[in-house]
Amino acid sequence: MTQNSQATAGLRGQVAGQTALSTVGQAGTGLTYRGYDISELAEKCQFEEIAHLLLKGELPTRDELAAYRERLSGLRHLPEPLRAVLEQIPENAHPMDVLRTGVSMLGNLETETDFSQQQDLADRILAALPAIVCYWYRYSHDGVRVDTDSDADSIGGHFLQMLHGGEPNPLHEQVMHVSLILYAEHEFNASTFTARVCASTLSDFHSCITGAIGSLRGPLHGGANEAAMAMIEQWSSPDEAEREILGMLERKEKIMGFGHAVYRESDPRNAIIREWSRKLAEEIGDDVLFPVSERCEQVMWREKKLFCNADFFHASAYRFMGIPTKLFTPIFVISRLTGWAAHVFEQRADNRIIRPSAEYVGHDLRPVVPIDQR
Ligand code: COA
Repeated sequence: MTQNSQATAGLRGQVAGQTALSTVGQAGTGLTYRGYDISELAEKCQFEEIAHLLLKGELPTRDELAAYRERLSGLRHLPEPLRAVLEQIPENAHPMDVLRTGVSMLGNLETETDFSQQQDLADRILAALPAIVCYWYRYSHDGVRVDTDSDADSIGGHFLQMLHGGEPNPLHEQVMHVSLILYAEHEFNASTFTARVCASTLSDFHSCITGAIGSLRGPLHGGANEAAMAMIEQWSSPDEAEREILGMLERKEKIMGFGHAVYRESDPRNAIIREWSRKLAEEIGDDVLFPVSERCEQVMWREKKLFCNADFFHASAYRFMGIPTKLFTPIFVISRLTGWAAHVFEQRADNRIIRPSAEYVGHDLRPVVPIDQR
């Protein structure tokens, strides 16, 4: 690799387009959505307000929020052919694959035929995602055909109600709001860029979202919260965690849930979710997972100046709420759908096909030797 291509590998630092949706590492505590700081949004808003902000352009008034909530609640049902497909998917499938298939199937049943449908489709998919993942999960794991038209007010509450049955615990519902707000939008991250590349070919809305789900699945992106959980749940004390982390660093292994492609000193989402994870730990009387997580944070900073990203304390927070590890990244999808959709709208509004160039490092020009002479 030349020095120049090394510096720009992974398109790092390259401006690849414009957005009015968010800034990362530039203003406020480090992340803003349409000019609002993430810390204020997480403190003062519920997730449906953020969905409205990203998809419709502004925070809703009280009446607008009530109407939007009602609209989303009315869009939760899953068509019979989609339920039939979900029932075919085995228990050991990864729920990210289930979501990818679910959205793709929905694209066959409720196909976008005109871009004027994009707002309606975004609302529809946002409302249906929790139902898709929970319907499959409960059917394949418990043999239950869960009612996807739950009366829960919020998207996070709806998810918890389908997963656990009964009214969601108010603290857990509140943490779901915060979590979904923190994950909603993050500029030109890998999955959003995937959605925009797909949109730039003037493809349909479901294809943009399906592609984005595939990108988010990887452990270097959304899959990091699951990978972090798999790591920390092995350790029964902070001292053991410290020993193991030091060993992993020695062996030059990646520690999931740490580091970031853009932030250099901290991820503003971490301080917020860490405090909610602490509250949940207190609620259930945890004295292992949270102290282990805190020690990992201290050791990584002390040894490598690497900080927790949004995923690390999400792992313990979700665990404290009784959410199975394999559903962690799907929650990220439910939230990030809002960011992806808003980026698809932006791309379509001012489109040019995204088609970068490559630095060629292969053979010089050479003749084709006929097959019988090779
Ligand atoms: N564990 C161990 N070392 C890490 C690390 C981690 N989590 N994150 C970064 N590093 C190391 C890199 O290997 C690199 O070392 P090198 O220069 O010896 O190769 C150095 O720190 C600088 O890496 P950086 O350029 O900041 O990272 P990146 O932009 O290439 O990658 C991530 C960013 C997020 C992909 C990377 O930090 C990572 O893989 N983190 C773990 C996965 C994760 O949590 N992803 C979720 C992101 S929100």
